[in-house]
Amino acid sequence: MDTTETIFFLFIFLFVEYSFAQLCSDSSCHLGEPKIRFPFQLQNLQPKSCGYRGFNLSCDGSDQTVIDIPNSGQFTVQAIDYQTQRIWLNDPDSCLPKRLFTLNLSASPFSGYFTQNFAFFNCATFDYTKYKFNPIGCLSGHNYTVFASSSVIAISFLTSRCSLISTVSAPVQWTFSEPMATSDLSEDILLSWDNPQCGWCESRGGRCGLKSNSTTVTECSLVSRRGFPRGARYAIIAGAGVPALLFVMGFLCCICRKVKRFTGRRLPIVDSSSSAAVAPQTLVITGGLDSSTIESYPKTILGESRRLPKPNDNTCTICLSEYKPKETLRSIPECQHCFHADCVDQWLKLKASCPICRNSPKCTSVDIQVS
Ligand SMILES: *[C@@H]1O[C@H](CO)[C@@H](O)[C@H](O)[C@H]1NC(C)=O
Repeated sequence: MDTTETIFFLFIFLFVEYSFAQLCSDSSCHLGEPKIRFPFQLQNLQPKSCGYRGFNLSCDGSDQTVIDIPNSGQFTVQAIDYQTQRIWLNDPDSCLPKRLFTLNLSASPFSGYFTQNFAFFNCATFDYTKYKFNPIGCLSGHNYTVFASSSVIAISFLTSRCSLISTVSAPVQWTFSEPMATSDLSEDILLSWDNPQCGWCESRGGRCGLKSNSTTVTECSLVSRRGFPRGARYAIIAGAGVPALLFVMGFLCCICRKVKRFTGRRLPIVDSSSSAAVAPQTLVITGGLDSSTIESYPKTILGESRRLPKPNDNTCTICLSEYKPKETLRSIPECQHCFHADCVDQWLKLKASCPICRNSPKCTSVDIQVS
């Protein structure tokens, strides 16, 4: 089997492993959207068997998590608390109070956590600014304003001035108790569910799921905090991690070989200020010189004549570009070879020898003195 084949099979193997690992693990529509797991199931991202009946969610066109409440339409899922078995919803069209008129939870597994009655009023425009009356903008029109309240005092005040639209039972997230005020009811509604009862399992750090071959009986598996059972985690590390490492190593080797073949022995110094441009793998093996030694090498600024001492032509052999007047050059004392100072500094930091004649400056002579 050659390298390409090996990589191909590793890839397939990894893909299969990955798919298994994804089975019924947490998922979400987008970064920052609620984490979805049992009893909920995210359509197209998790198998249907990962969720409980009535807990199916999906992602809408703008990657928001949405739920279909039977006969009441779609709501965006704002948050889920798996331990207390509660879910916060809002209206994708930003007019939650309008949705409350038609909300009917009886065919869903959810019920209101706090439920409070609100009377809605249609008021011909009057000066409400001196009261704590918060109008419902999305229900109001050019010459009328809609208010909703639970306060007995506010309701009797509004009854005498406005016409009652209807009374709606709203699953609010906290009960409204201000005496002479109305609410714009724009805050998320809060629902809870009684079945399946997985809150106790979640609060012990466990994960709930359906028992195999059942659509109603759940079981709790206690897992370590990261989400996978410990055994499964080791299996994934051994099963996917090791091949992944081999795959990455093989891939890097391939790239290295290609790069080496492409660049040959030439140093691809494009921008002397970025040391990242130096291909490291061919050079790191031998040590370079320290910057004080490099600084001690003679530096010259090229004149208009661009004339250089003998063994040099007018091209820097490191970057292969011609010298221009006013450029700073540095020469290696042992062989008098010149280069752009920026180029040769980078080179000498990595390799203690002249790029042209391979003479080793200073370094070797020090070594000889020591031995
Ligand atoms: C809610 O829907 C159920 C049928 O699913 C119906 O029997 C019930 O009357 C509805 N409740 C309201 C308040 O409309």
